[in-house]
Amino acid sequence: TIFEEAAEGAVRVAHEIAELIRRKQRLGEQAVLGLATGSSPIGVYQELIRLHRQESLSFRNVVTFNLDEYYPMEPDELQSYVYFMHEQLFNHIDILPENIHIPDGTLPIDRVKEYCQHYEKQIDECGGLDMQLLGIGRTGHIGFNEPGSSINSTTRLVKLDPLTITDAAKDFIKEEFVPLRALTMGVGTIMKARKIILLAWGEGKAKILKEMVEGRVSDEVPASFLQLHPQVAVVVDRWAALEL
Ligand code: GLP
Repeated sequence: TIFEEAAEGAVRVAHEIAELIRRKQRLGEQAVLGLATGSSPIGVYQELIRLHRQESLSFRNVVTFNLDEYYPMEPDELQSYVYFMHEQLFNHIDILPENIHIPDGTLPIDRVKEYCQHYEKQIDECGGLDMQLLGIGRTGHIGFNEPGSSINSTTRLVKLDPLTITDAAKDFIKEEFVPLRALTMGVGTIMKARKIILLAWGEGKAKILKEMVEGRVSDEVPASFLQLHPQVAVVVDRWAALEL
């Protein structure tokens, strides 16, 4: 769906998420949401906060799993995705702290593999993701699944692409401060979500969006694997849609 303005698209997506949460509430079930960081989902989170404050949307039945985290990364660092998620969403809603899951960037390297398997298991034990929210990186990454990530990949430690490091430099003052690695859900983890919503705003995303939507399905553009998913919404503004 192409919106004139990013803000309109963000509101529409937030309302869809709210509808899912309310539907699950009526059934007495949990809504299991896969969440993303970066600038793309901020408008969605702002509208969800507004719905919580002004339209009594409760998140007490919501369980969240975030896509990724830099590695290594302490949760109280300004650049951590733990910090981001609390600032942008969790501190402003009534989600239960025990229902929040974000990959742990503090683990010693010898515990990472087991931890990643545990993260996958936790998602499965909650019944899988009802909805996964995504942005897209200029390398075509979803989460931190950089080019070369296989369609069956699961949660794991990855190396960041040089272009991703350049793009992240704005948050870390200098490029050399950007961690070289990250923990990320795999493409396979994302593909298991029952519904996927990918957001892309601005002209900077136009080229990669075209490759993702209209290009060949290939691990050179991991987001192109979404073409094979039965329930994907690609929500963009007119700038990101420029090359479609
Ligand atoms: C980071 C995140 C991705 C995100 C991407 C795009 O690399 N790990 O999940 O989609 O940035 O960021 P933005 O939304 O700021 O363009």
